[in-house]
Amino acid sequence: MIKSIFNSDGEAIKAALDIHSTKGFVDVDPTYSIGNFYRKTGIEEPKLKFDIAPQVEGVIQSDARNLPLDNECVDTIVFDPPFLATMGKSLQKDDASNIIAKRFSVFPNEQELHQFYIDSLKEFYRILRNKGIVIFKCQDKVSSGKQYLSHVFIINEAERLGFYTKDIGILLAKSRIMAQWQKNQKHFRKFHSYYLILQKQNKNIKYV
Ligand SMILES: C[S@@+](CC[C@H](N)C(=O)[O-])C[C@H]1O[C@@H](n2cnc3c(N)ncnc32)[C@H](O)[C@@H]1O
Repeated sequence: MIKSIFNSDGEAIKAALDIHSTKGFVDVDPTYSIGNFYRKTGIEEPKLKFDIAPQVEGVIQSDARNLPLDNECVDTIVFDPPFLATMGKSLQKDDASNIIAKRFSVFPNEQELHQFYIDSLKEFYRILRNKGIVIFKCQDKVSSGKQYLSHVFIINEAERLGFYTKDIGILLAKSRIMAQWQKNQKHFRKFHSYYLILQKQNKNIKYV
């Protein structure tokens, strides 16, 4: 039995592929980074790997919102986008070790981050065949004292675009880094992420 709660990314993605993917492998990972999802997890490397800032060989430089792929040519996409948005002090310090991560994994504000999710989903809808899926990793968060239920936002926007939320799984975190300012807690500290299975429904929409 495959339950809806997972203890690692590998376990969650494997389950998603077993149950929801027609072919059992990932066609496209548009935010591949260093490919942790496929290291020692038994999950086959994706056929196509993209990232806006490639860090390892074999990854093609591309923006998830504008992929160099034809309409309706893939069935399974794994998407693990950035989830941070800040213009805070931590971004001002540029030390070589994390400059790429900071530049490409942090959006200036929540609106731009959420717009990035919508624009990426539109692009995935374009390249997916009917019934193809996006395995979308996301997490809720508190930012500037405000609760953002990102998974709700993503589901609503995806369904507006023509996706059906076929499934949802929860990945439990082993630990979370705690900043000093987070000790005066006003919200539950989120110890989980989501794996959404968004399936393209052919509604004969026009690609824009
Ligand atoms: C959370 S990391 C992905 C980690 C990855 N799943 C792994 O296993 O190593 C997010 C990645 O998204 C990339 N990224 C940020 N903006 C992007 C964009 N517009 N298009 C494509 N990739 C982007 C970042 O460069 C970063 O590598």
